[in-house]
Amino acid sequence: MSKLFKPSRPEKEHQVTDENIYKNRRTFLKSLGFIGATAALTPQASAFNFFGDDDETSKSTFHTQDLSFAPATQYKTSETQTPYKKVITYNNFYEFGTSKDEPAKSSQAFKVDPWSLTIEGLVEKPIKLSYDDLLKRFPLEERIYRLRCVEAWSMVIPWIGFELGQLLQQAKPLSSAKYVAFETLYDPKQMPGQKSRFIGGGLDYPYVEGLTIEEATHPLTLLSVGLYGKTLMPQNGAPIRLVVPWKYGFKNIKSIVRIKLTDQQPPNTWNLLAPHEYGFYANVNPNVDHPRWSQATERRIVGGGLLSTQRIDTRMFNGYDEVASLYKGLDLRKNF
Ligand code: MTE
Repeated sequence: MSKLFKPSRPEKEHQVTDENIYKNRRTFLKSLGFIGATAALTPQASAFNFFGDDDETSKSTFHTQDLSFAPATQYKTSETQTPYKKVITYNNFYEFGTSKDEPAKSSQAFKVDPWSLTIEGLVEKPIKLSYDDLLKRFPLEERIYRLRCVEAWSMVIPWIGFELGQLLQQAKPLSSAKYVAFETLYDPKQMPGQKSRFIGGGLDYPYVEGLTIEEATHPLTLLSVGLYGKTLMPQNGAPIRLVVPWKYGFKNIKSIVRIKLTDQQPPNTWNLLAPHEYGFYANVNPNVDHPRWSQATERRIVGGGLLSTQRIDTRMFNGYDEVASLYKGLDLRKNF
C-alpha cells in the first residue's frame, strides 16, 4: 500500500511510459482507497511500479536449486530475453500483494517443500505428486517463450518444465473429460493477500484457472518448475506453475496444488471478478481490445535501465500460429 503512493523517480517514468497512462495515473491514484476490482490488471496499475527496486535480487533469501534439463531446441526464439532480475522483480502474484515489486518482497519465506499436487476428477488413475516428483518424474526441458500480459507488457523467458500433456496421459483421462481445472494453494498464513483485500486486491481466493482438454494437451502447454536454469522463485509461482504462451498471462496460474479433469467449463478468477473484461479463453489477440485499452501493441520488457522497454506490435496467439486450429469455427470476439 504505502509503496503505491510513494512517487518513485517520476521524471524517468514520465520519459518512458505512454503520455496518457502517465496523466491518467494521477486521477487514477486519487480515486483509489486501495487497489479495487476494476483498478486491477490495468496498464495504469502496471506502469506505476515499473521502476521497481533493481536491488531486490540481492535481498532475496529464498534458496533455488540448479536444474538438469535439455536445452531448448524446437521451442525457442531469437528475441532478446528479459533479464533474470526483471523476471523475478516485476510480477503479478496478488496473493503476495498487488504492486509489481511486492511479490518479490513478501514471498521469500514461502514454503515449497513439502508440496503436494493432485491430479483428480475424470481420470482412471488419480495421481499425487510430492515436491521431489515435480522435479524428477519427467525429463525437464527448456522452452524459451514469449509471455504477454493482458496489461499490454511482455517478456521473453527461458522456462524449464515438462508438458502438461505428459502428466495428464499418466492419469488416463476418461472420454467424458472435456476441461482441466487448476487451483493455487490456499494458505492465508503464508499468503497475506488471501487474508486481506487491501493486500490481495479483493480477488476470490484460491486463484483458479481452466483450459479445454485440447488446450491442456497441446504440446506448447508447459508445467514449469524453473526458469533461467534454476527452480522457480516464490514470486514466479514456485514450486510449479502453468505456462500457456498463446494466452494472456493471467491464465498462467502459479503455485498449483490441484488439477481436476471435468466435463464442465471451470471458473477462472479474473473472469469471476470482471466477466466483461477477462474471458475464459484469453487468447492473445491484437484485434480484440480490452474494454478499457488497446491490445494492438505491447511494451516488451528487455532490460532494467531507461531503454528497458520497446513498443512492439502484438501478434495473434502471441505468434504461436500452430494453435489456430484449436479455435476453428469459434468466434474469438465473443469467446475472448
Ligand atoms: N497466479 C496466481 N495464483 N495469482 C496471481 O495473481 N497472476 C497472473 C499469473 N498467475 C497470478 C497468477 C498474471 S495476471 C500474470 S501476468 C502472470 O501470473 C505473471 O507471471 P510472472 O509474475 O511470473 O511474470
